[in-house]
Amino acid sequence: MIDFDQLLAAFQAGEIAGADFPHERHVQVTWGLAQRYPRDVALRLLTDGIRGIAARAGRAAAYHETITRAWFELISGAKDLERYPELFDKSVLGRYYTPARLALGRERWLEPDLHPLTLPPPVLAAARTQLPDVLRWIPTAVAVLATRSDHTLHATTVSSITSVSREPALVSVCLANGSRTLDLLGHAGTFVLSVLASNQSELAGRFATLGRPADPRQFTMVAHRLSAYGPLIESAAAWIGCDVYGAHRCGDHTIVVGAVGLAEATHRHPLVRHGGVYH
Ligand SMILES: Cc1cc2nc3c(=O)[nH]c(=O)nc-3n(C[C@H](O)[C@H](O)[C@H](O)COP(=O)(O)O)c2cc1C
Repeated sequence: MIDFDQLLAAFQAGEIAGADFPHERHVQVTWGLAQRYPRDVALRLLTDGIRGIAARAGRAAAYHETITRAWFELISGAKDLERYPELFDKSVLGRYYTPARLALGRERWLEPDLHPLTLPPPVLAAARTQLPDVLRWIPTAVAVLATRSDHTLHATTVSSITSVSREPALVSVCLANGSRTLDLLGHAGTFVLSVLASNQSELAGRFATLGRPADPRQFTMVAHRLSAYGPLIESAAAWIGCDVYGAHRCGDHTIVVGAVGLAEATHRHPLVRHGGVYH
């Protein structure tokens, strides 16, 4: 555990050398000051202290007004440092400022040009666009999720099955908002996952095809049988039947949590999607 009293006393007494003031210490001192003093006092103590460290290292010109203040704005907004581990990553400032803007802010305070100085830090636009490319390299099982209401049934391919809880037994899948399956699930209240076997990739494509009929015709020519949770695809690697336990909208998808009432594995080799290819 860090002794904030000791650290702040050493900082305010000018007893910390530049070599002993890595980014982690900087964050801790800033947070400690922001917790103990009114905002203006904390900011002044911080800037005086950092100027002092730079001067004692013979590098007074290294002091950067905008970087110091920007970190203060971010760190002082965190009630609890442990909630925001990103603050310990020096490069996080690059999500708020372009390098060009920061270069102009050495002598005077400049507001950020990419994002207001609020927490949590914004997700990098580059990370967002690269994510699908990264995710395709994470192997996933592929299943057909089927659901049945009084008047119809519907099925769709999913690769987002996750184990959620053992007691009670819960699993989840993520469905695109606006998908016909999600809509029907709201009425049906149950669903069943047929985890496809490695020789069933054709079915994965079939139940993902846009414009396929949203009714029992989808199952024409597909060997299946009915269960209390919906139609099960024959010769699959496993089946999981669920009552809908909860639905949580997250971004453009909804996490559907199912309370498991049927779980059966056939020990057939499962179909795995990896690198955009079925294995
Ligand atoms: C391998 C694979 C995995 C997929 N996984 C999901 C998924 O987890 N969630 C989802 O909403 N759509 C997923 N899709 C896309 C849906 O299957 C597709 O959008 C489907 O046509 C939606 O149908 P619906 O609107 O009739 O429900 C996947 C497609 C494929 C080929």
